[in-house]
Amino acid sequence: MDSSEKAPASSDLTPVVSQGEEQFQRVFAEAPIGMALFDSEYRFVLVNRALAQMLDTTEEALMGASCESILQPDEAAGQRLLAERLLGREVQGYKVQRRYPSGSRPERFADVTVTRIDTEDGGVLGLEMIEDITEARRAKEQTRVHEAELAHATRLAMLGEMVAGIAHEVNQPLAAIVNYANGSTRRLQSGDVQDMRVIQDALSRIASEAMRASEIVRRLKSLARKESVQRERQPLEEIAERTLRLVESEVRAKDVTIVMDLAREIPPVLVDPIQIEQIVLNLVRNACEAMLEQSDPKRVTIRTFREGDESVAISVADNGPGLSPALLHRVFDAFFTTKRSGLGMGLSISRSIAESHHGRLWAEENAPQGTVFTLALPIFGGNEN
Ligand SMILES: Nc1ncnc2c1ncn2[C@@H]1O[C@H](COP(=O)(O)OP(=O)(O)OP(=O)(O)O)[C@@H](O)[C@H]1O
Ligand SMILES: [Mg+2]
Repeated sequence: MDSSEKAPASSDLTPVVSQGEEQFQRVFAEAPIGMALFDSEYRFVLVNRALAQMLDTTEEALMGASCESILQPDEAAGQRLLAERLLGREVQGYKVQRRYPSGSRPERFADVTVTRIDTEDGGVLGLEMIEDITEARRAKEQTRVHEAELAHATRLAMLGEMVAGIAHEVNQPLAAIVNYANGSTRRLQSGDVQDMRVIQDALSRIASEAMRASEIVRRLKSLARKESVQRERQPLEEIAERTLRLVESEVRAKDVTIVMDLAREIPPVLVDPIQIEQIVLNLVRNACEAMLEQSDPKRVTIRTFREGDESVAISVADNGPGLSPALLHRVFDAFFTTKRSGLGMGLSISRSIAESHHGRLWAEENAPQGTVFTLALPIFGGNEN
């Protein structure tokens, strides 16, 4: 009865095995990745369509071929050594990355997993699963190159803005230095030196303008690096008055009247005074430049006032041609200018400075005509005072 029990069992098993084999063959043939079986001679005994396609050849051409013959020559010897260890049963399997020549196409990159198969008759085969990673690699490489280019472009743009910013801010002190120097030279040449105090005064102004220029460069550098700078408690009206003194002669030459409207009772701000003066200077210069061509009286009004509970503000208004609503925002973009010799940096720098002080800078229409720029800064010590 023993034999009669075994007989049906083994005859039941046969179809299961052959069904499994058939399934294996189908999976092998139709797998979306390259599959290959090699024998103890390291020759292909079975390959699938995906592998043939990847190598730009046919399954027939690969069958029976040496596995080394499809590799890049510099990788072949190393791969054979690995295969020999597997065929000699030293290892169960391994993973490698390989480059494959692919007919007329660029070489392919693949992740390859190799597994040892011990056959029933005591033989040994190697099963290779070959995943083509060429596209993924290329995409990754492209992303990397793109990112590097972007980082470079960003650095260049930042450098460009920085250089433009320094040029913009330092231009004025340099122009003043040239003026004082020329004036003194003229006096000396004409022998008009009875009063040496005039020359002395010019020299000390040259020195202080030069100091101011180097101070501006230093502060712009720390602004670009986002370093924190020394802040001082300052009443806004004092900043307004100092700025007025800096632009007075320049403004008078342009036939512009400056009206000061300063609130004396507003709380102070915590600022880098030189930077805030730069903002007001830029605004006053823009206002004067906007009114350059007009025959109406040219007037700039500098006002300080309380702006809500938490801030105080300084505004610079003109009665020039004004800005269209679309431009009210764009004028703050770096390099936006409508002037032939403008850099378009004044407002962009001014806004950066305002933001580094947790303040805001914006433009509005002025009634009945012109533009108002307002700089609002947080009150020093909050709103309790
Ligand atoms: N008060 C104003 N009235 C009208 N337009 C203005 C006024 N202020 C600025 N603008 C416009 O905004 C633009 C940008 O000003 P911004 O100060 O940033 O650069 P710019 O004055 O052109 O050049 P620069 O870099 O020399 O200052 C100006 O070209 C001008 O068109
Ligand atoms: Mg300007």
